[in-house]
Amino acid sequence: MKILAPSILSADFTNLSQQIRLVEMAGADWIHCDIMDGHFVPNITFGPFIVEAVNRITDLPLDVHLMIESPELFIKDFIDAGADFVTVHFEEVIHLNRVVYQIKELGAKAGVVINPSTPVHSIRDIAEYIDLLLIMTVNPGFGGQTFIPNSVRRIHEAVELREKFRAKFLIEVDGGINNQTIKITSEAGADVFVAGASIFKSENISAATTELKNLISSK
Ligand code: DX5
Ligand code: ZN
Repeated sequence: MKILAPSILSADFTNLSQQIRLVEMAGADWIHCDIMDGHFVPNITFGPFIVEAVNRITDLPLDVHLMIESPELFIKDFIDAGADFVTVHFEEVIHLNRVVYQIKELGAKAGVVINPSTPVHSIRDIAEYIDLLLIMTVNPGFGGQTFIPNSVRRIHEAVELREKFRAKFLIEVDGGINNQTIKITSEAGADVFVAGASIFKSENISAATTELKNLISSK
């Protein structure tokens, strides 16, 4: 089953509860939470306090994308707040194997994120231990950016790597996903689709969610 994960980065936070309810009713599978610290990326968002509030609003799994320095210091806080999936950046974590185990021992699913310039094969030796590989399809830091075209080749490479090492991770794409790019990334083999602006900045949040969901469900 293909998974649609709306990113609340582009939501109206004065109406967060209602907006999450809309995407939930329209077929969203997970809620994607973008955590930024102003150091790893040039933007600041929110922390465990908001994740905990989101967890009270919805029963959907929470997919927490950590774009922060030293994520290992905060993993427990985010899992205590309700994170079901925690993803950390390959570029930031020196002891990646240890951090993946830390996430799993605390009861969540573990994911690794790679920036657009990080080779897919970099994750070869962690492949069999992770639940999720998040391929950034824009440079992290902001919503509403344009999809980077060579991401499609990178998805193919991730599919090949997964087969070669008999790994089981889901392949997630994040950034610039709209009703065009969701089709090409789905055809390339992606399993999980994060969408921020194309849902929350659209005129009709419910319709946009349903449309994206239909585009991945027909396969
Ligand atoms: C970007 C974030 C994304 C962002 C995607 O750094 O990781 O999750 O919300 O937003 P859109 O879908 O607007 O590109
Ligand atoms: Zn994200």
